[in-house]
Amino acid sequence: MALNRSKSEAMFERAKKTIAGGVASSMRAFDKPFFVERGEGSRIWDVDGNEYIDYVMAYAPLVLGHAPKVVNDAIREQLDKGLIHGTGCELECELAEEIVKHVPCADQVRFGMSGSETIHMTLRLARAHTGRNKVIKFEGNFHGTIADIYLSVTPQIPFGPDHRPWTKRQVTGQLPSVEEDVVILPYNDLDPVEDVLKAQAHEIAAIILEPVANYNGIQPPAPGFLEGLRKLTEQYGVLLIFDEVVTGFRMAPGGAQEYYGVVPDLFVSAKGVGCGVPMAVFGGRNEVMKTIADGTMPHYGTYNANALCLAGSLAGIRELTKDDGAAIKHLHKVGRSLRLGLNGLFEKYDAPFYAQGVDPFFAVVGQEKQDTRTYRDTLTRDYDTARLFRDAMFDRGVWSIFRGNFVLSVAHTDEDVKQTLKIAEEVLQSEKY
Ligand SMILES: Cc1ncc(COP(=O)(O)O)c(C=O)c1O
Repeated sequence: MALNRSKSEAMFERAKKTIAGGVASSMRAFDKPFFVERGEGSRIWDVDGNEYIDYVMAYAPLVLGHAPKVVNDAIREQLDKGLIHGTGCELECELAEEIVKHVPCADQVRFGMSGSETIHMTLRLARAHTGRNKVIKFEGNFHGTIADIYLSVTPQIPFGPDHRPWTKRQVTGQLPSVEEDVVILPYNDLDPVEDVLKAQAHEIAAIILEPVANYNGIQPPAPGFLEGLRKLTEQYGVLLIFDEVVTGFRMAPGGAQEYYGVVPDLFVSAKGVGCGVPMAVFGGRNEVMKTIADGTMPHYGTYNANALCLAGSLAGIRELTKDDGAAIKHLHKVGRSLRLGLNGLFEKYDAPFYAQGVDPFFAVVGQEKQDTRTYRDTLTRDYDTARLFRDAMFDRGVWSIFRGNFVLSVAHTDEDVKQTLKIAEEVLQSEKY
């Protein structure tokens, strides 16, 4: 019952002639050729006229859904006043004030364009502020593709002992030296963190983590993990950095730090903070941000806080946070009913899948029906069979990320959830897994 995607296929052949691999981001190479005509709310239409319920949401920035009116109107209004001016404007004060109001750890912020770049800046800031070189990163966590932290995201055997994984470059082309200053530890396990801090805290600038690990099938923090990290970093004088690229303005108006009630020293937010425009922000306590403010560690960027992105981002954030975060509450509600609904169907049809994660984003993976805690726990998953389920849904008009992730938006409705579950049931009835 595959959809006709002949125009997409022809466009892919055309793209391959002038775009390396036919895709603009290597992530997209894992999907079937799929060229889009337009998106609106929770839906997307391809060039062949097929309509999909979209759970990719452009890999998560579209927290308000496609083409949100408030964001589009703000961008339209800004267009005639100029896209970028190379100096300050009131919009940037307003956006910074909004962010500081909502994000618990943020006394001050700086703006950038992407998660990768602002993570890179935050790590440099942590090193500059503490005068130490090393950082602790967790195996399986993803912090973007800049070389000095693009390490041990999906490492393959041999990868060292469970309690003290080796540091492994993620892709070819990274210098071997990037491995020297990053200590890799298992996610959701405090003992190895304490061991390393006891032995070498004097060399460690920061611990960086995703408060909800999103790359390898959505692992929420184990009870006490975030609190334990906060306690240990305070005890040993090491900075704690939350990578809230995915969780920011999604788990709660103040991100995962508000949702879980654990306040780091520094944070990075991207994706949700832009609601589709390329906007990223990093920031934290005054004492640390002073290292930028006083010029000790400069932070540059031609496109930082350009007026067009400021306008879109500010409108988006105001929409997300107004009425005590009503939009985000809705996002949680629809996400939860989809996740629980899918798990109910997997039980009913005895299908070897499990929807694991948090309410606004989760992953359908091939594993036992219980949460995994670490990256290594995920290695026994059956990704191939889960992919068959995902592709069968895609061929019936439900688009999710090829690795099984579902990303909800404020634009998703109860009706979308109902329709998705109906399609999932049809798939489970007609296919054998
Ligand atoms: C947790 C996390 N950090 C950082 C990044 C990198 O962000 P960007 O793609 O904007 O560079 C991503 C991207 O998916 C992410 O999921």
